[in-house]
Amino acid sequence: MHIHKFEQFWIKLSYGLIAFFIATVIYGFVAMDLKVIGDSGTIDPQNLQDTPFGNPGVREIIKNGETEYEVYVQTIQFSFVPGTAQPIEVPANHRVTFYITSPDVLHGFDVVGTNLNTMTIPGQISKFTTIFPEAREYGIVCNEYCGPAHHVMEGKINVVP
Ligand code: CUA
Repeated sequence: MHIHKFEQFWIKLSYGLIAFFIATVIYGFVAMDLKVIGDSGTIDPQNLQDTPFGNPGVREIIKNGETEYEVYVQTIQFSFVPGTAQPIEVPANHRVTFYITSPDVLHGFDVVGTNLNTMTIPGQISKFTTIFPEAREYGIVCNEYCGPAHHVMEGKINVVP
């Protein structure tokens, strides 16, 4: 059977592209390590109860003579703990550092209307620091598909004066 040379060219090109895509996926798994930006360490997701995540919530700390806040959050199918059942309450105009991890699957932690947005990965701690400039309420949504009720996974941050 004769295959026209242009047709041969396109067949070879499509095989080449398929091989290239498979290679990029393999490279992604093997050569790179899936990590979140601002990664601040690893943690055993089976054993969060013996870590600060075992008692999640807001802590007041004094750093360099200033009052700051640390917020430990677990993202769990399908809620933020804290955040969903009760809002995360922090004051405006103070440094707030979030530490977030997940005991089950990949989730997102996206503070709606801001650029505060991180993936949460079992085994890793996502960390970011911010200062909320005004007292108001913010929504939190999960923006990584995490199961059948992913679309209802949401929470609240209450920034108080
Ligand atoms: Cu949690 Cu989507």
